[in-house]
Amino acid sequence: MSKKLFIKTYGCQMNVYDSARMADVLAPLGYTQAPAPDGADMVILNTCHIREKAAEKVYSELGRIRALKQEKQAGGGDMVIAVAGCVAQAEGAEIMRRAPYVDVVFGPQAYHRLPEMVARATRHQGDVLDTEFPVESKFDHLPEEMGARGVSAFLTVQEGCDKFCTFCVVPYTRGAEFSRPAADIVAEARRLVDAGSREIILLGQNVNAYHGDGPDGGTWSLGRLIRELAEIDGLERLRYTTSHPLEMTDDLIAAHGDVPALMPFLHLPVQSGSDRVLEAMNRRHRRDDYFRVIDKLRAARPDIALSGDFIVGFPDESDADFERTLDLVRRVGYAQAYSFKYSPRPGTPAAALQYGQIAEPVKAERLLALQVLLNEQQLAFNQACIGRDLAVLFDRDGREAGQAIGRSPYMQSVHVNDCDTMIGVLADVRIERALANSLAGRLMDGAEASAHAA
Ligand code: 5AD
Ligand code: SF4
Repeated sequence: MSKKLFIKTYGCQMNVYDSARMADVLAPLGYTQAPAPDGADMVILNTCHIREKAAEKVYSELGRIRALKQEKQAGGGDMVIAVAGCVAQAEGAEIMRRAPYVDVVFGPQAYHRLPEMVARATRHQGDVLDTEFPVESKFDHLPEEMGARGVSAFLTVQEGCDKFCTFCVVPYTRGAEFSRPAADIVAEARRLVDAGSREIILLGQNVNAYHGDGPDGGTWSLGRLIRELAEIDGLERLRYTTSHPLEMTDDLIAAHGDVPALMPFLHLPVQSGSDRVLEAMNRRHRRDDYFRVIDKLRAARPDIALSGDFIVGFPDESDADFERTLDLVRRVGYAQAYSFKYSPRPGTPAAALQYGQIAEPVKAERLLALQVLLNEQQLAFNQACIGRDLAVLFDRDGREAGQAIGRSPYMQSVHVNDCDTMIGVLADVRIERALANSLAGRLMDGAEASAHAA
């Protein structure tokens, strides 16, 4: 009998990938995914611990899920509630204490053991907590992916981080750096393409630190892996995220120049433009190192669009430090970016600093000033696309009838009206309008023909 599984995913794209794999693991047990938690047999919250707000959301959602569980129990049924991901890894037993109706808590490295955990929970053998970092990789124990992953599919190639930036929980929640063997990745990519994916986004917390065993007995870099994946018939586009500036090797930068499938867009977080703050963050690079990488990237691929992450209000950040961040942004010119107020995370070195925590209103003011600048740059970047023909890979229908949405090479959302469904089609679009977060245009001649060919 089919059982209903609802998974809610928070945080980064790695969690999106993990959630899909959790569904794969549970499918043989009869679980099929449902769009809402009401009446579900199992609910998984796949959580994020990166900032305080992200972690707190989980507890309020758990309150709502609890009511649904009680409703189901009143009708004689039951619901297994599981908390997965980085909050589970970081807080473990604390979750069971704060929310005793939770049945299962497991970290990002444990979900290949889900069937056993679920069986124990449903047999009412008490709560199940699994936040071990196993010696063997979960990847060796996961089933092959079930079914299609969509036009644009995530593929985790690397997990964990050894960089230990002083603000960040990732090295603690995701563990040490681990790279999957290249042959496994290539095989997974082939299956995704066979199932209809045309773009693959390679994922890793430190994806460009990838150094996996190659089928030739050597160690493969990300650049080498990308060159191999680009050979797969039917794979139109490759991207990778998230990268660390120190790991942008010449070989990877060169791939941006000579692998046509590798899209001209790179998310390369810098966090701050002040060397003093970068050092306190233990970023291991200076602002000049970042500029050098950007210069090389632009030499290899002049139209490359850049994205970044920024933290304002890191402990002891002065007005002058913050000015250096604004100056860096002006010099680089971003196509898009994410920016955050520093949020002290329990267990990280920066959270333990007794001095220099920045007052909330100062953080808010700096964040606003930074976002005004970043938004201006994003709008300018989008407006500069007006009149150009961009290749758009359509991956969803729009809200209105006859509307299709896809992505440009530069990762912008592009809307087209008055067309048949275009999902899976790669077609040229003449850009006519630009908004802060998207572009709109019309299909160029021949797009319909390629729709049928695809
Ligand atoms: N406070 C604020 N932002 C953070 N990030 C990571 N940790 C913190 C924190 N403690 C941001 C960084 C990172 C992105 C994923 O989240 O900018 O690149
Ligand atoms: Fe966190 Fe720094 Fe590792 Fe990125 S490189 S995951 S910010 S510790």
